[in-house]
Amino acid sequence: MTVTQKAFGKTPAGETAQLFTLTNANGMQAEITNYGGIVVRLTAPDREGKFADVVLGYETLAEYIKASPYFGALVGRYGNRIAKGKFTLDGVEYTLATNNQENHLHGGKVGFDKALWAAEPVKTGEAVGLKLSYLSKDGEEGYPGNLQCTVHYWLTNDNELKIEYLAETDKPTVVNLTHHSYFNLAGQGCGDILSHELMINADRFTPVDAGLIPTGELQPVAGTPMDFRTPMAIGARVNQDDVQLQRGGGYDHNYVLNKDKPGAMTLAARVCEPTSGRVMEVHTTEPGLQFYCGNFLDGSNVGKGGKVYSHRYGFCLESHHFPDSPNKPDFPSVVLRPGEKYQTKTIYRFSAK
Ligand code: BGC
Repeated sequence: MTVTQKAFGKTPAGETAQLFTLTNANGMQAEITNYGGIVVRLTAPDREGKFADVVLGYETLAEYIKASPYFGALVGRYGNRIAKGKFTLDGVEYTLATNNQENHLHGGKVGFDKALWAAEPVKTGEAVGLKLSYLSKDGEEGYPGNLQCTVHYWLTNDNELKIEYLAETDKPTVVNLTHHSYFNLAGQGCGDILSHELMINADRFTPVDAGLIPTGELQPVAGTPMDFRTPMAIGARVNQDDVQLQRGGGYDHNYVLNKDKPGAMTLAARVCEPTSGRVMEVHTTEPGLQFYCGNFLDGSNVGKGGKVYSHRYGFCLESHHFPDSPNKPDFPSVVLRPGEKYQTKTIYRFSAK
């Protein structure tokens, strides 16, 4: 197991970002930069043991800075949308940066995906990793409180990319961190992801309005194209005449994960790519999982190896709390208060069959 490091390029502020290469005992590799905590490259073996890079991304930092739909990034302070960029906490109304029509998306104009994190390689008996730290200042993008964040990325010898999130604040605030890799288990740039077979361990999802803001309802998936309780090709129903699919331009929805106990680490999803046999499981302590099937990819992003990322060439499975929770009192709370610890964990586990 090794961690190596090299310069990756300069940030708009003129600082040098690093690129760390993590290699586990099986030869699986993760390349991660401390700019935005972006996973730039992630290899996984197929059923013959052949590795391929299974995440979309760029070769240079400049391209990430120029235009990236959150490829591989750490997303915060609030992953997903907050309606109209407004919420009220303890009787005080806060106004956030809006960057998705009238709504706030993925932390605003300069979210955690554009921050330069302090980085330190770490190691245990069964994993190599990277410890990333970032202080989000009181008022950043409109959020209250200095928020000290620490994220550990681990590449384990069980072929897992394990992400541990920790945050503390000095004023009441809201937090919802996530990871935004676009996966293609056939290999990045190798066609669309519509034949991937997906299982999501959720009986319900949060239906959205035309701006992709949850209506507040928890709707059963049964009898709808949102139902992935038994494995189903992503493309089997994606173009069906369904109001939710129309609003998302395909799947772009938060699932309410089945859990006996809030905060328990449970299986959220399993994806299998039939040609290569690659399998990815997502396990998380979080209550929700955004399944986004790359509907907004349109070929304008040219990625690693000159690959053109066309419509639905990658999918995201973003573990988090439900979108717009700060305005939905019935959703699990995203409020963090001084003295409390925000602590969540998500694992992407790779195998082949
Ligand atoms: C959202 C999409 C958005 C994408 C890229 C996803 O998490 O659900 O609506 O387009 O991120 O920004």
